[in-house]
Amino acid sequence: MENRRPLIAGNWKMFKTCSEAVEVAEQLVKLVNDMTDGVDVMIAPPFTALAPVSDIVRKSCVSLGAQNLFWENEGAYTGEISSAMLVSAGCRYVIIGHSERRQYFGETDEAVNKKIMAAIKNDLIPILCVGESEKERESKDTFSVLDKQVKNGLKDFVLDDLKTLVIAYEPVWAIGTGKTATSDQAQEIHLFLRSMLEKSFGNMLSKSTRILYGGSVKPDNVSELMAMPDIDGALVGGASLDPETFSKIVHFNK
Ligand code: 13P
Repeated sequence: MENRRPLIAGNWKMFKTCSEAVEVAEQLVKLVNDMTDGVDVMIAPPFTALAPVSDIVRKSCVSLGAQNLFWENEGAYTGEISSAMLVSAGCRYVIIGHSERRQYFGETDEAVNKKIMAAIKNDLIPILCVGESEKERESKDTFSVLDKQVKNGLKDFVLDDLKTLVIAYEPVWAIGTGKTATSDQAQEIHLFLRSMLEKSFGNMLSKSTRILYGGSVKPDNVSELMAMPDIDGALVGGASLDPETFSKIVHFNK
C-alpha cells in the first residue's frame, strides 16, 4: 500500500446532541486507544459538538473532523462556519463536497474547489468526496462524473497544495442503503481516481494520496474492502454512530 497510512473516518452527519456526542466519544476513545500505531482514526460530529468532543479526544489517537466549512475566513455570512473556526474548535480534518451537500444544498464543484482551498490555507486536511448516483451508474456515466468532480474540485491547485489531500469515493447508491459496492467495483474506481491524480499531478501524489471508500461500510465488509490495493480507508456513516461497531471497523486488521 506504498506507505499510505489507513484512515478510518466516521461521518456522524446530523446525529447526536452535545451530551450524546461526548458519551460516544468517551466510549470510542477507550475502545480504540490501542490503535496509535498503524491506523488513523477520525470522527466528524456536528458543528455544535466539535468543541466538547475535542476535549475528549485531544489526548487520544482519535482526530477530530468537521462535515463542512465556508471558504471565507470571517464576515457577514449568517449560519456559516470558517476553516479558522474549525481549527480553533480542535479540528484536523474537514469533509468537503459530500453527496448529501451536493444533493440537498446545491453544492457545486466550484464551491467544493473554494472550500478545499480554504481548508488547505488553514492547515486542515480536506477529504474530497466524489461519487456517482444510481442513474449515472446505470447510464454508464460513472467515470465521466468522477472525472468532472475531481478535475473541477482540484482546479487550479498545484502539487504542493495537495500533499495532505484525502479523496473519498462514495457511490451515492451505496450510502445508507445497505448496498455496498463490491470490493472489485470499488478497487476499479479507486485505481481510476489514482490514475487521474497521476495524470494531473504526477506519480508521487498519486502514490501518496489516501483514497477512502464510503457507502454502507460495516464490520463485516470492511476487511474485504481494505484488502484491495487502492483502498486506503473508509468513510463510515451509520456504523460510526455506535462506538462498539465503529471500533470493530477501526480494528479491521485484527
Ligand atoms: P453510510 O455508511 O451510512 O452508508 O454513509 C456513508 C457516508 O455517507 C459517509 O460519509
